Amino acid sequence: MLRIGYGEDSHLLAAGVPLVVGGVTVPAPRGGSAHSDGDVLLHALADALLAAFALGDIGQLFPPGDPATKGIASSIIVAEALRQVEARGDWRVVNAAAVVTLDAPKLGPYRGPVQDSVSTLLRLPPASAGVTFKTSEGLAPDHIQARATVLLTRGATGGL
Ligand code: C5P
Ligand code: MG
Repeated sequence: MLRIGYGEDSHLLAAGVPLVVGGVTVPAPRGGSAHSDGDVLLHALADALLAAFALGDIGQLFPPGDPATKGIASSIIVAEALRQVEARGDWRVVNAAAVVTLDAPKLGPYRGPVQDSVSTLLRLPPASAGVTFKTSEGLAPDHIQARATVLLTRGATGGL
């Protein structure tokens, strides 16, 4: 038994805000402006996990504007989404694949740490969380965006 999940997120870049990508802070003059730490990659992954089971999206779990969750690390959001998936039964993530779109700075030098961070959060082997980086070619110079898919299976091997 397999399930697939897909999620997206986008945040406006704001000066002086830390740029956090997949739980990794990248040196940059601007970062994703958000109620949480603005980590679009983790938000897209959390939505992908929830979507795989039609569980809604992270805005329902962590309403934007709730003072109790102001500035929270998005790893907490992913952990909660994973908890909800695992509460559905004997499900586990097989692999994750994601794209982050950002015109600058270059994220390639941080791919290793970002993939390590995402795989750790999803309890995956290191080679099972692939993250690619793209520019928007100037179409969205003031935004960071992410798109993510997750594949899930039931049971120890799920036939894979
Ligand atoms: O979007 P584009 O195809 O022009 O990106 C070229 C390459 O630049 C990507 O394949 C990726 O390796 C790298 N890149 C990056 N950091 C970004 C955007 C793109 O490392 N923020
Ligand atoms: Mg978000």
